[in-house]
Amino acid sequence: MANAALGQAATSDLYAKVSLALEEHSGRIKALELLDGSRVWLKRAEELSPRLRVLKGDAAKGLERDRTGLRLLAGAGLPVAPILLEGTDYFVTPDLGRTLHAMILDPETDRADLLAAFASAGATLAELHNSGFCHGRPAMRDICWDGKRVHFIDLECFRPGKSGPKAYSKDLLILLHNILSRNRDSRVLADEMIRTYREAAPPGVLQHLRVRAMSLSWLIPLTAPVRRLKPSSRELHAVPATLQFIWGLGIA
Ligand SMILES: Nc1ncnc2c1ncn2[C@@H]1O[C@H](COP(=O)(O)OP(=O)(O)O)[C@@H](O)[C@H]1O
Ligand SMILES: [Mg+2]
Repeated sequence: MANAALGQAATSDLYAKVSLALEEHSGRIKALELLDGSRVWLKRAEELSPRLRVLKGDAAKGLERDRTGLRLLAGAGLPVAPILLEGTDYFVTPDLGRTLHAMILDPETDRADLLAAFASAGATLAELHNSGFCHGRPAMRDICWDGKRVHFIDLECFRPGKSGPKAYSKDLLILLHNILSRNRDSRVLADEMIRTYREAAPPGVLQHLRVRAMSLSWLIPLTAPVRRLKPSSRELHAVPATLQFIWGLGIA
C-alpha cells in the first residue's frame, strides 16, 4: 500500500524499485534512488539463523514494533519517519537526512549545523515526552537531521504503554551516554541537547535523571578495571563522563 501523498509517476517508480529490491536483496536496510533524484529507505525483517535469533531476538517482531511506533507517533503529529509504502515484512520511508551519529563522525560537518541538530534533538525528545510517549532507545544512529529539524527513524525499542517521568529520564540517560561516547565536541553537543530539553521538560524528569545518576555511581569504581583493560571502549569510558555530566547539571 503506497502513501496517498505521492504522485502517480512517483508511486509507480517507487513500486518498481521496491519490488526489484525485495527480489534481489535480502539485507535489512537498503537505500533506493528514485528517478526524481530522491532517496528512500527500504527496511525489512532480517532473516536470522536459529542461533542469531536467540542472540538478537525475533526480527519480525522488531519490525512490527518499529512500524507500530512510527504509525502511533505520526498519528500524534510527532516527527517520525513517515511510511511511504509497506507490505507484511517491509516498509519504506523517505530519506530524512544524515543521522546525528554520521554528523558527529564527519570532521567536515558544519559546526552551526551540528549544534542546531543537537538542539533540535533535545527539543524533539521533550516534545515526545510531553505527548506521553517514551522512545525506548534514542541513539544518535536513529535520529536524522534534514537541515531544519530532526526525525526519529527507528522505534524498535518503543513500548506504547510506557510513559511517565521515570521512563523519560531513562531515554535522556541513554541519549546522553550515546552522545558522550564520541569525542568531537561531545560535551558541547550534550549541553546543547539538554539545554533545549530542559526548556520544555515535563515535570519531574530531570529530578528522576539525577536520582538515576546517583544510584548508578557504583558503576564508576566497578568499571574502572575494565576501562583500564579496554582503553578504546568508548561506551565504557562514557560511563563516568555521563554520570558526572548529570551531577553537574545543578538539578534541584
Ligand atoms: N528514513 C531514513 N532517512 C535517512 N537515513 C535512514 C533512514 N532509514 C534508515 N536510515 C539509515 O539506515 C540506518 C539503519 O536504519 P534503522 O531504521 O535505524 O534500522 P536498524 O534497525 O538496522 O538500526 C540508520 O542508522 C540510517 O543511517
Ligand atoms: Mg537503528
